Amino acid sequence: MPLARVTVEQFRCLNAVDVALDPIYNLFVGPNASGKTSLLEALFLLGRGRSFRTRGFSKLVRQGETAFRVVGWVESGGLTTVLGVGGTRQSADIRIGGQPAAGAAELAAHFPPLIIDPEIHKLLEDGPHRRRRFLDWGVFHVEPTFMDTWQRYHRALRQRNAALKPGLDPRTARVWDPELIATGDRLARIRLEYLDILGPVLKALGGQLLGGEVGLSYQTGWTAGESLREAIDRSFERDCRYGATQVGPHRADVSVRVDGHVAKERVSRGQQKLLAAALTLAQLSVQESRHPGRSALLLDDPAAELDADNLGRLLAVVRTLPVQLFVTALRPDLPGLGKPGALFHVEHGGIRRAE
Ligand SMILES: Nc1ncnc2c1ncn2[C@@H]1O[C@H](COP(=O)(O)OP(=O)(O)OP(=O)(O)O)[C@@H](O)[C@H]1O
Ligand SMILES: [Mg+2]
Repeated sequence: MPLARVTVEQFRCLNAVDVALDPIYNLFVGPNASGKTSLLEALFLLGRGRSFRTRGFSKLVRQGETAFRVVGWVESGGLTTVLGVGGTRQSADIRIGGQPAAGAAELAAHFPPLIIDPEIHKLLEDGPHRRRRFLDWGVFHVEPTFMDTWQRYHRALRQRNAALKPGLDPRTARVWDPELIATGDRLARIRLEYLDILGPVLKALGGQLLGGEVGLSYQTGWTAGESLREAIDRSFERDCRYGATQVGPHRADVSVRVDGHVAKERVSRGQQKLLAAALTLAQLSVQESRHPGRSALLLDDPAAELDADNLGRLLAVVRTLPVQLFVTALRPDLPGLGKPGALFHVEHGGIRRAE
């Protein structure tokens, strides 16, 4: 389901962009600060409803302007769907086929992009929040009930935490326990099922990219050997003290190991990037196998911090994936991916296709 055309107005340094895209491989070339990452950010926003660089929309509006808009034309089976994401410094507006969308997740049914950028090592280095988000994005694509389960769990969690605040009767918080436990158990189960699918794909890619044995393990967010019900019961006093629920899938994490060692304690920055890229490519591969012809990969400045061998290995894997590619580089001679279907020059907030 490739993105055939995109327009970007008043977004970061981009002024008025309107480009026809290649269904397979698009390469965006330009000097530092020309707007390459901003363009990928606009594409990410179109499929995910958020930026990968900043929270909220306030920094995305072009300086001196009041609102931005990104519009994309997605083609599938002879039909075109128009996706639109607009924003001011305070509010967002997501549209699909001209109609307001209920949420950002609806965009992803049409255009689900994944990104590999120079910050990708944060997936391993930062706290568990990023890894949970990574995991849940993957589960969302293989398990149709994920969204409903996730929303119900977080609604119960919010209500329970609100009732645990000082000055209220904490016993009322326990009204939410049955819903929290039912949806929390289910969330843990579907996450584990997804990791069972992802694991073998990652193992193969990890071997290719790092030459080591890459494995994943899931920490549920409560003590191993206990049921969620037991953990919630045991934690109640602590929950009251902290005014928030201390155990459950909202505290889960995924640990990544290379040859049996916890990756973030063991591998170099370059290897961390490769490993995080392997995770992303494994996820992309699973996503594409479930929904063929839909996925896109945004690859921002892949040459940054990878040596020639590692870059070659990464691009060799990327090349085999049947997804629409959007790649940025300082120069057009990026080795490994072959000739782009469309080459673009990015300069002074504008983008033009090379003849
Ligand atoms: N809201 C904004 N309004 C106007 N300009 C902005 C805004 N936000 C960021 N910029 C500017 O946009 C420019 C382009 O940034 P971007 O990160 O897209 O460049 P890039 O081509 O990816 O550069 P590099 O090769 O260094 O990664 C920067 O000079 C940045 O200061
Ligand atoms: Mg950049």
